[in-house]
Amino acid sequence: LARPTQLVCVIRHQFSTSSKSRSQKDAKVAVLGAAGGIGQPLSLLLKCQPLISHLNLYDIAHTPGVAADLSHIETRAKVKGFLGEEQLRQCLEGAQVVVIPAGVPRKPGMTRDDLFNTNAGIVRDLTDAIADVCPKAMVCIITNPVNSTVPIASEVLKRRGVYDPKRVFGVTTLDVVRSNTFISQIKEIESGQGLDLTKTNCPVIGGHSGITIIPLISQCTPPVSFPTEERAKLTERIQNAGTEVVEAKAGAGSATLSMAFAAAEFTKTLIEALNGMEGKVQCAYVRSDETEAKYFATPVLLGKEGIEKNLGMGKLLDFEVSLLKAAMPELIKNIEKGEEFVAKTY
Ligand code: NAI
Repeated sequence: LARPTQLVCVIRHQFSTSSKSRSQKDAKVAVLGAAGGIGQPLSLLLKCQPLISHLNLYDIAHTPGVAADLSHIETRAKVKGFLGEEQLRQCLEGAQVVVIPAGVPRKPGMTRDDLFNTNAGIVRDLTDAIADVCPKAMVCIITNPVNSTVPIASEVLKRRGVYDPKRVFGVTTLDVVRSNTFISQIKEIESGQGLDLTKTNCPVIGGHSGITIIPLISQCTPPVSFPTEERAKLTERIQNAGTEVVEAKAGAGSATLSMAFAAAEFTKTLIEALNGMEGKVQCAYVRSDETEAKYFATPVLLGKEGIEKNLGMGKLLDFEVSLLKAAMPELIKNIEKGEEFVAKTY
């Protein structure tokens, strides 16, 4: 591992190229909900990301401290804290990417849908400010229930006349991260050797709650095979992995560190694509024509303008088709709930 000072030299070297490439790499990112369990480690990881030149941190509490703390790290991104609603719009000025982990997390016994009443309004109001200040920004939504908060954000942007479906993402990367980890762990138990996690990639489609999470183990790279029963058990573990963490934390919140890692990976890939790097693919919950659900997670190819191409779900095993069938009613219900919320309250 490079020492921090070496890292800074590498970063400086990387950015002492032509002015054109320098300006392309000056990504300005805003994190909304930056002082929370996800927001803080996510902001730390983004602060270490050499493609980011400005990191604006917004929350309704504690951002001055978080920003002061992060600003002492000897990496490139200039960190600024913004506190309270009156500073939200200032935080968003010039943002190319907005990442939203604002809102309450689950406690044991809760579903993600139980968070709707609190988080729906938060996402609606934050998106409204985005429409005002940085309507061209890429909007990456972490706040649960993602199945509904993405439709909420999209409806608000539509009503403001600035909706671009290529720019709104529900961050489902954690489902992929978990699938990759669990698959590799099982292979390690079976054969004494896990998969190379840097090369393991299991697409996850559908939505981001319980049975709407559909890991496509049959499309994992490198290819893996499991007896039917084990495939079903693994699928169930991936679908309930969030609850595993909620229960282990016993009331102290839900996944924060692994989520921060996942969101940082997603943001990094997105910025790379915005900078013109080719072949950048991530699974995300986006506006989609793949199924009868208006929003659906699939692998998407990212480009300079956001989603360049939806890569679709590919060929499914019968088992995966049955997962898809089971997911659809709930996913559609979650989407409608989000849309109705905006229709009633905006
Ligand atoms: P947390 O409670 O630790 O942090 C939330 C932060 O949001 C707090 O700092 C709070 O002050 C802030 N906040 C509340 N209202 C706000 C507003 N109106 N504007 C700006 N900030 C506001 O919660 P945590 O653990 O960070 O989780 C955040 C969200 O992420 C939850 O909804 C959780 O369910 C979701 N989540 C999503 C995952 C995914 O895979 N997409 C995985 C894990 C959690």
